[in-house]
Amino acid sequence: MPQGRSPILELQEITKAFGGVEALRGVDFVLSAGEIHGLVGENGAGKSTLMKIIAGVHTEFSGRLLLDGRETRFRSARDAHAAGIAMVHQELSVAPDLSIAENVFLGSQPTNRFGLVQWRRMAREAGEQLARFGIDVDPLSRLGDLPIGLQQLIEIARVLFSGARIIILDEPTSALSPPEVERLFSTLRRLRDEGTGIIFISHFIEDILRVSDTVTVFRNGRKVAEAQAADTSKAALIEAMIGKGREALEESYTEDIPLPPLSDRPVVLKASGLSLARSLKDVSFEVRAGEVLGIYGFMGCGQLELARILFGKLRPDHGGLVVAGGQATFASTAQARRAGIAFVSESRRDMLFHQEPVYKNVSVSILDRISRLLLKPSRERLIARRQVEQLQIRPAAVELNLGMLSGGNQQKVALAKWLSYPPRLLVLCEPTRGMDVGAKSDVINIIRDLRARGLAIIVLSTEPETVLSLADRILVLRRGAVVREFSDEAISKDRLLEAA
Ligand SMILES: Nc1ncnc2c1ncn2[C@@H]1O[C@H](COP(=O)(O)OP(=O)(O)OP(=O)(O)O)[C@@H](O)[C@H]1O
Ligand SMILES: [Mg+2]
Repeated sequence: MPQGRSPILELQEITKAFGGVEALRGVDFVLSAGEIHGLVGENGAGKSTLMKIIAGVHTEFSGRLLLDGRETRFRSARDAHAAGIAMVHQELSVAPDLSIAENVFLGSQPTNRFGLVQWRRMAREAGEQLARFGIDVDPLSRLGDLPIGLQQLIEIARVLFSGARIIILDEPTSALSPPEVERLFSTLRRLRDEGTGIIFISHFIEDILRVSDTVTVFRNGRKVAEAQAADTSKAALIEAMIGKGREALEESYTEDIPLPPLSDRPVVLKASGLSLARSLKDVSFEVRAGEVLGIYGFMGCGQLELARILFGKLRPDHGGLVVAGGQATFASTAQARRAGIAFVSESRRDMLFHQEPVYKNVSVSILDRISRLLLKPSRERLIARRQVEQLQIRPAAVELNLGMLSGGNQQKVALAKWLSYPPRLLVLCEPTRGMDVGAKSDVINIIRDLRARGLAIIVLSTEPETVLSLADRILVLRRGAVVREFSDEAISKDRLLEAA
């Protein structure tokens, strides 16, 4: 704890188990007023669990929680909220069917003396708050109609301006573009200077070092290190997180890396002149067997819409697709799947069944191709077990409900679905989002392996590292148009960012 600051929140000897799984073991943690405290650790290390204890979501645990030095026990999230604690959860937790204004004021809508909601005031204030954060939207429109990244930004804004004195951000930057991250960080610094205590979780260690005063490392449910950000380094943090020195994980792509010459293998998918309302303008490209095409751009550049056209979820206004030589503008996702196209969404919620066991989540993709009669439950589990092992999903128990896995491990399940019966073309949106450095490199290796088996792969991402580590060719999208293609040349992260 930095000198001269007083602890507002103290956790002592926190232990928490879910059934047989010990998520936290004897954790001590202190947060001061006017401090940004970064939290890092592998997927499943226990970060979100500790935050949910602070935010009153998990009420069963052993150990003590002290607020301003007084022992407190929250009975609910509402309780914690009333005590001045606000949290942005790792999984988007907005109400898509409500308006933007209602989401901003969720749980604290302004009412008049008759208890009626003051709509006009609410809309005006919501609009003002969001404008301060650089978001220009109609506060009365439906939140669910906005792109995911913008929904996330609105949820962050809501928490930042809620007036809470303890703010928890569980991986808030995963869908934000670099300018938005900067805006978030300057807001965090301002709140910190006003005395707010902030806990910031991220797998982007450079971000953690840049914005935090203090950094704590979790591993396997324990706190294994704590340091002043100024006194530690990326290498030291990775070492503490993962143990063995995994230098390769530190790759930051500041140097040029070479892209290979154009392959002469058959074209698997050709897109010509795709246009969609205000999202896409005349986008054309090809992807070949055994090739990874990277599509990079900031949030809102049109890549999510593009992915949805490829998978038959959206229909283009103009242009079309040719898959393996046959014309194909898909009328449905089922048609796209039959044509051999698989899709992993950037939003885990869209793709996975939280109340179903892991093995069922893995086998849904197989069931498109094999009849249920042929897929015996024992075989279903066996296939899932193999994938869980290959992807090192933890815990490695296929019977667990998916909702019990940590965020990064759920993302791995979303990928595992496609490994046993690989499709012809795999469209991956943000394949490494929410993953720790070790998991990222596991997933990158798996994608490379699929490429070596001849799959055509399209990776769409707002993370330059993800695209640079995988792609053979890179298209840069800006405001729905392809503004640059990199192929058979050297490229660095800076040049990629410049092009976007
Ligand atoms: N509701 C739950 N039921 C059962 N087990 C759970 C539940 N929530 C978390 N766990 C388990 O507790 C452990 C810690 O999970 P937690 O979500 O805290 O990890 P994390 O550090 O936030 O990881 P990530 O970086 O992937 O988000 C994991 O083994 C996870 O599977
Ligand atoms: Mg988490």
